[in-house]
Amino acid sequence: MTLVNIDDLRQAARRRLPKLFFDYIDGGSFAETTLRANRTDFGRYRLEQRVLTGTAAEPDLATTFLGRRHALPFMPGPVGFMGLYRGGGEVLAARAAHRAGVPFCLSTFSIASIGTLARQAPGELHFQLYVLTDRSLLDELLQAATAAGVETLYLTVDTAITAIREKDVRNGFRSATRPTPRMLAGMALRPAWCLDVVRAGWPAVEAVSHRPDFGRGALEQAANLSRRIDKTLTWDDVAALRARWPGRLVIKGVLSAADAVRARDSGADGVVISNHGGRQLDGASSTIAVLEEVRTAVGPQFDVLIDGGFRRGSDIACALALGASGILLGRAVAFGLAAGGEAGVARALEILRTELALTLALMGLPSVDALKAAGPAAIRPA
Ligand SMILES: Cc1cc2nc3c(=O)[nH]c(=O)nc-3n(C[C@H](O)[C@H](O)[C@H](O)COP(=O)(O)O)c2cc1C
Repeated sequence: MTLVNIDDLRQAARRRLPKLFFDYIDGGSFAETTLRANRTDFGRYRLEQRVLTGTAAEPDLATTFLGRRHALPFMPGPVGFMGLYRGGGEVLAARAAHRAGVPFCLSTFSIASIGTLARQAPGELHFQLYVLTDRSLLDELLQAATAAGVETLYLTVDTAITAIREKDVRNGFRSATRPTPRMLAGMALRPAWCLDVVRAGWPAVEAVSHRPDFGRGALEQAANLSRRIDKTLTWDDVAALRARWPGRLVIKGVLSAADAVRARDSGADGVVISNHGGRQLDGASSTIAVLEEVRTAVGPQFDVLIDGGFRRGSDIACALALGASGILLGRAVAFGLAAGGEAGVARALEILRTELALTLALMGLPSVDALKAAGPAAIRPA
């Protein structure tokens, strides 16, 4: 099958992954209202078509966000358990990101540690952190990130309390601490996946593998890690992290202008507007719907990234016009990885690159920076 767009990669991932992993990636919380809104709210905007501008068919997609110039305005955001979708998944995705000229952000909930990534994948690495009640582990994670050369740290603040994802409940995923017979039966239906993942070694969360109190195997370790996420997180924790992390600090999971301003005033270098891909507060706003008001509130200099529902180059163009500094990709990259490993992630990034380039050209714009400069004038309400 020709993989023309991100939805094709989703279908390919569905065919290759055991159902419980596909559902874990694809699903959202409760009635999945916010999950759907992340997609459908792009329909509130239309892009300005401008003609006879003499613009080249190959616009310049490079732009600056998080302190550096990158080849593209989008990059892989933190997605847990990549090494369960493909053996060595985190390393493969990071390599593909580097080849595309963008950084890669590693989740706390990863099979590979940040140290392994630094050794096995070239390029700029970012790290996503949860504040943990186990302060010694928190210290270890920060030290490992520093040793790996990480300069940009994302503190995820929208998952201190975890919502119910009903597909996961039905599949028994993440409540089990080891694979149940039903899960193993489901995995056996996907022999190519089994061979590939097991060849890479029995999956474990490498960052906590040296800690016997976390148990053995990815499921048990992840359950123990989840239990240690600090549920009482406040802005004081942001200030404390700001005081000890000398690098760039980005607060991920902000969905209002007030919280974005608070993040900026707490010393953060940026925010990610996110509702965790519709996996947390169901009924919350889509991310694209709040972008313009957040940008207006924090001013033009502050880094405002966004994620949630980005599947098309036109979605990316819309966010850039509404004030996004850059875009993080969740499922688009996860589907690419599951479907085709490193080549699949490369394909996902290439699809979005091509779509964005053509979108800009058809809008009569020479570059991403020109679109950012045009701002909301480049779009109109539907
Ligand atoms: C399978 C999966 C795992 C995720 N794991 C994490 C995580 O460990 N840390 C985090 O900050 N966000 C995590 N996220 C949220 C993503 O970073 C991002 O906010 C979201 O996926 C964006 O929406 P999109 O998938 O529609 O692009 C995860 C998302 C998915 C789909």
